[in-house]
Amino acid sequence: MCGIVGYIGRDRAGSVMLDGLKRLEYRGYDSAGMAIMNGQGLETTRRTGRVAELEKALGNSPGGRLGISHTRWATHGDVTEENAHPHVSSDEKIAVVHNGVIENYLSMKKFLIEKGYTFQSETDTEALANLIAYHYAKEPEVAGKSRFLESVRKSLRHVEGAYGIAVICTDYPDELIGARKGSPLIVGIGKGENLIASDVNAITQCTQNVIYLNDGEVVHLQKEEFAITSASSKDVEAIIHQVDWDTSEAELGDFQHFMEKEIFEQPTALENGMRGRFSDDGSTAFFGGLNLSPRDLCNVDRILFIACGTAWHACLVAEYLIERYARIPVEVEYASEFRYRNAPLDKNTLVFAISQSGETIDTLAALREAKRKGYRTLSINNSVGSTIARECDGGIYQHAGPEIGVASTKAFTSQVMLAAMVALYLGRIRNLSFDQGTQIVEALKELPKQVREILGQSDHIASIAKKYAQAEDFLFLGRQLMFPIALEGALKLKEVSYIHAEGYPAAEMKHGPIALISPECPSVFLATSGGIFPKSLANMQEVKARKGPIICVASEDCDLPAEIIDDLIKVPESHDIVRPILMSIPVQLLSYYIALERGCDVDKPRNLAKSVTVE
Ligand code: F6R
Repeated sequence: MCGIVGYIGRDRAGSVMLDGLKRLEYRGYDSAGMAIMNGQGLETTRRTGRVAELEKALGNSPGGRLGISHTRWATHGDVTEENAHPHVSSDEKIAVVHNGVIENYLSMKKFLIEKGYTFQSETDTEALANLIAYHYAKEPEVAGKSRFLESVRKSLRHVEGAYGIAVICTDYPDELIGARKGSPLIVGIGKGENLIASDVNAITQCTQNVIYLNDGEVVHLQKEEFAITSASSKDVEAIIHQVDWDTSEAELGDFQHFMEKEIFEQPTALENGMRGRFSDDGSTAFFGGLNLSPRDLCNVDRILFIACGTAWHACLVAEYLIERYARIPVEVEYASEFRYRNAPLDKNTLVFAISQSGETIDTLAALREAKRKGYRTLSINNSVGSTIARECDGGIYQHAGPEIGVASTKAFTSQVMLAAMVALYLGRIRNLSFDQGTQIVEALKELPKQVREILGQSDHIASIAKKYAQAEDFLFLGRQLMFPIALEGALKLKEVSYIHAEGYPAAEMKHGPIALISPECPSVFLATSGGIFPKSLANMQEVKARKGPIICVASEDCDLPAEIIDDLIKVPESHDIVRPILMSIPVQLLSYYIALERGCDVDKPRNLAKSVTVE
């Protein structure tokens, strides 16, 4: 949430930051701004709307050797130019961009107004800019020390809440400062230039060398040098990581939208996630980074999954799969609820977080709470070096490649596949036989090919989307393993098309949502063959009896009476364990094409932002 790019070095600060902001726009797109030190002082440009508006305002190739920039997802204050970042102190010395929420900004503001500082915006960030200016004005000159750095450090001691910040000072045209607590911030180390950003994606065009800042750390950058200090002002020995992303992975290529690109990338994302993770005898999975031995895992009595949004739906699939195949009791909690609930957990509980970004603040906070209570923690996540990945005892990287579309698609199916592989692994060290294991491994290996087959039906799905695109309500219904996919289908549709949609266990429909059924409210049924199929069919009959249109996504071997189905999308027959993945593809495509029909901006849906780093 909110994108930050800061730059120091050659005479190209403006253009590098602009490029970075475009790559970060998925973090927030209410407004954007930039402050550049251009040799004559601070030049600040802010615009509401997309980064394109800022680009227009900046004109041709904005230069400068030092600058900070921001793309905003509003927390405090409306979407106005005054509230857009950077915020400049009233003495015009300090400029700040900020991601996070400063909880005590009102008392800070009161104090600063009493001291004569003035405010132009409703934001919490402007209070921090003025606080730094206040400390800066009082800070004595000490040889060999940066007054600027000292004043930032002092100010941060008074901040309650979360921040990732980049700060510049007009008296220090050769220094850029960044700091984080709760909100992500990384440092890019280049040749004759250094950067700060909220996301690796923003800087890979300049450097692949990255330092992940930890909470409480402050980085002091010059064009050739950097120094990191901890919250207690101790020097930190930084580890420089090499980012293994190819910049083109985060570009659109031949696709119209990132959501479309990422839906079509799923076969590759799945292949990458399973590569090298099956045993030689083809009967189980294994993971390099779990840091827990099979013996440790045999002692686990219960698993608690925590996540938010789409990743929470992946947890629900994990619950079904792990209970079914490994016979370990599983619970799933919204991370934001777990954190504030004093849940009694057994000491042999394993806490498992799922997060694409690895930065979602609710998930991170819940994980920290679990760690504080002494539980072992693992994660599935897609962002190497992210805070969640670093803070867990062990974990599994998704290797799905960068996900830029705000609505998660390939990250979700990759999480579900890894949950299936975890179920297999845990099952094999407990109760699953060799034969059961090999069947599952074979099913997983088939998966990318089957997903490609479903993607081949995109024209058919687009024509169904056209037919229903003007509906204002949708139901998504499925039983057992299909219930989380119904929830995910409804969420996807809501996010990108703004159609009201609800996901339910199909049988629950009779207990209330059936009141919504009408010729104007289509129901998407997710039906798979097997014991439960006749029950799903009965639920479809109930909808049809009330003249509700039915779009059915069904496995090929389901025997469906043609008269009750209005539109059918067939999915290849498969092992139960991979069905949630296969059934997800048509619902993603349906949502995507419906949103296109409605003229929605699928990659930047209103009010949303990728990676929610505020509570
Ligand atoms: C929906 C979506 C969100 C995220 C949620 C968690 O399409 O993307 O619901 O799933 O914000 O994000 P991560 O997985 O990054 O923790």
